[in-house]
Amino acid sequence: MCGIVGYIGSKNCIPVILEGLKRLEYRGYDSAGIGFIQNGSCNVIKNKGKVSLLEKKIYESSYSPTIGLGHTRWATHGEPNEINAHPHYNTDRSLVLIHNGIIENYQTLKISLQKQGYKFVSQTDTEVLAHLIDSFLKKGINLFKSVRLALAEVDGTYGLAILYDKEPEKLVVARKGSPLVIGIGEGENYVASDVSALIAHTSRVVYIEDGEVAEVYSDRFVAKTILDEDIVKEVHQVTMTLEEIDRGGYETFMLKEIMEQPESVLNSMRGRLIYEDGTAKLGGIDHLLDRISKTKRFIITACGTSWHAGLVGEYMFEQFLRIPTEVEYASEFRYRNPIIQPDDTILFISQSGETADSLAALREAKRKGALVLGICNVVGSSIARESEAGVYIHAGPEIGVASTKAFTSQLVVLALITLVLARKRDMSLVDGRSIVNEFLKIPEKIKRILELNRDIEKVAENFKDSKNFLYLGRGYNFPVALEGALKLKEISYIHAEGYPAAEMKHGPIALVDENMPVVFIAPKDSTYEKIISNVEEIKARKGKIIAIASEQDEHIGNLADYVIKIPDTIRMLMPILTVIPLQLLAYHIAMKKGLNVDQPRNLAKSVTVE
Ligand code: G6P
Repeated sequence: MCGIVGYIGSKNCIPVILEGLKRLEYRGYDSAGIGFIQNGSCNVIKNKGKVSLLEKKIYESSYSPTIGLGHTRWATHGEPNEINAHPHYNTDRSLVLIHNGIIENYQTLKISLQKQGYKFVSQTDTEVLAHLIDSFLKKGINLFKSVRLALAEVDGTYGLAILYDKEPEKLVVARKGSPLVIGIGEGENYVASDVSALIAHTSRVVYIEDGEVAEVYSDRFVAKTILDEDIVKEVHQVTMTLEEIDRGGYETFMLKEIMEQPESVLNSMRGRLIYEDGTAKLGGIDHLLDRISKTKRFIITACGTSWHAGLVGEYMFEQFLRIPTEVEYASEFRYRNPIIQPDDTILFISQSGETADSLAALREAKRKGALVLGICNVVGSSIARESEAGVYIHAGPEIGVASTKAFTSQLVVLALITLVLARKRDMSLVDGRSIVNEFLKIPEKIKRILELNRDIEKVAENFKDSKNFLYLGRGYNFPVALEGALKLKEISYIHAEGYPAAEMKHGPIALVDENMPVVFIAPKDSTYEKIISNVEEIKARKGKIIAIASEQDEHIGNLADYVIKIPDTIRMLMPILTVIPLQLLAYHIAMKKGLNVDQPRNLAKSVTVE
């Protein structure tokens, strides 16, 4: 969701904030704004649309403040226009505030503030906070305390950063449910909703936790709980580099991330596979293996693409571990009072580690006493920190809003977990070793698939004007069908549905005519003969067939209009390969439509509101 960045020090903060906002734009890009203190008073410059527009507007002015904050918005309350853009002022414009999250009781607070005479200019929930804090400042209370008192009245989620011109030597930040970090510099400090906005300046960060408020000066910071208790915060060293979050010569982040997959997938397995023992070592969960391998049930909980990875995990766990596995949408899990037993293991999969529904579901699962494990990409993220143990996927920063390399790395980690547990249970050494061998060949096979990029681009050319798409797969490749359809929807705005191939007869087949492209994920596995029958059924109704097939398949070309042939592997690992042509197909269709694939409309990379 929204991106937050702030600076206090001796330099002109405007370039620092604009650069940070550009790095955070993947979190939202409906509007952007910057607030700062210069010559003793607060100023705000903001506009609808992207940071580049804001940049133009700011450089037409001649400000050079040394304290300021910036925001890039993903709209929740109030349409994405200039008035609703952050920062928001209090009435006398002595305070500016930016917010990520949702204030759930804002209507009640607004009515009460209106009765006190406060006038509102925007439709946002955020403006309530500016006036609420102001109501304490007006009583002569300092900013730090006013923020704590105001937040005690607030229900909902927030990452907040605030400036007050009567206390111009500090920024105040607060967190509940929306990520916030302080970046520690030399004689200057930073705040941000995400470390990627800070790493150009510092690698030393302090993670603000839920219920904490901090005053950030240029040379120090003071953290307290909302209830005014003192707390000592640890400074962490982050290892992310600037090169990792640049486009590296590619036209888009999404293409870079697709093309990086031989490397990112290798990084997910690096140092983990042990051929001699036919297993893997996962340091993060090693100490819990006995308990996990005796679990009576796995529940995998996630959102979006990570949920699709979870579905593949279900096939893996049930095939190799014979342990019942359920896959849940985090948003449903958290609210329906799920039945959780003490010997359940609940896995939370999240690229960002900050998705609001996944985090809330994790807390609910912990409250109910289950063993809670995290599979995250972002090191130090909330889900990673709050899980009892976990495994990082090590895919490297993913910036493109549509997830690609994180998905394949999530699949690698799920397969590694499967291997470790299966070897602990009843898998033989020989079988374990042959799986390790298959793992080791995956990066090379991905490279071969990526060499088909131009061919896939040519296929895409035929479909840029399509209005609908169907994606069909069976078994392990059913979740891949869902993921292929999601990729296309997210970035090309073409309506697409993923279905188990056989289920298509129970509805979607009614949609099939000569204008309906149908993507079959049909590698030569145990479901091949069945899926070929489904291909015939679509062909009989004149649907346009695109098949993702095995290299040695000589038959499918007689049925399909377009065939993309890829290398084979064992069934468990096949989704890591079959999804890649689908990522490229979606990518090229969207690019041919002239769309911004890195920042598709209405979406955000990290959904920190529910
Ligand atoms: C958003 C992103 C998706 C992502 C989903 C879950 O919708 O646009 O790409 O799959 O959130 O995010 P997470 O960070 O929890 O994996």
